[in-house]
Amino acid sequence: MNRDQVDGVLAHWPLAKRDALIPILQEVQESCGFLSRDAMLRIGRHLDLPASKVFGVATFYNQFRFQAPGRHRIQVCRGTACHVKGSAMVLEALCRHLKVQPGQTTKDGLFSLEVVACIGACGLAPVIAVDGEFHAGVAPDAVAGIVEAYRAPEALHA
Ligand code: FES
Repeated sequence: MNRDQVDGVLAHWPLAKRDALIPILQEVQESCGFLSRDAMLRIGRHLDLPASKVFGVATFYNQFRFQAPGRHRIQVCRGTACHVKGSAMVLEALCRHLKVQPGQTTKDGLFSLEVVACIGACGLAPVIAVDGEFHAGVAPDAVAGIVEAYRAPEALHA
């Protein structure tokens, strides 16, 4: 974690109170890529909140990541249109294939998995994005092939 980045965010919130916790968590994640334990402790001290409160709030929302992002970022849309078309099963298949939960990064550091709200491509539901590239109408049994296509170039350079 880069302490300067966390302190840089906190400097924008000199008089912040506990109601600023979520926006601060969001800004720190945007700046650092994830919320480290140390970052959450510093945020808690700044807001005069116990660490347990900061951890509790951060873990309640699935928008927050607690590990450094992987080289490839997989986003699974869980907006309404994608939900209706079975995005829960797509997410489940990805969790199984990558052996991670949303918000986590694979052990090899290659992939991080995120759940996001509507990403604005409802006509293509269910949609996942890998490194910002959309994959449309994804079936649960197709996720392994999609993910491995991103892994393959890595293997060539290994
Ligand atoms: S709900 Fe998934 S792209 Fe809109």
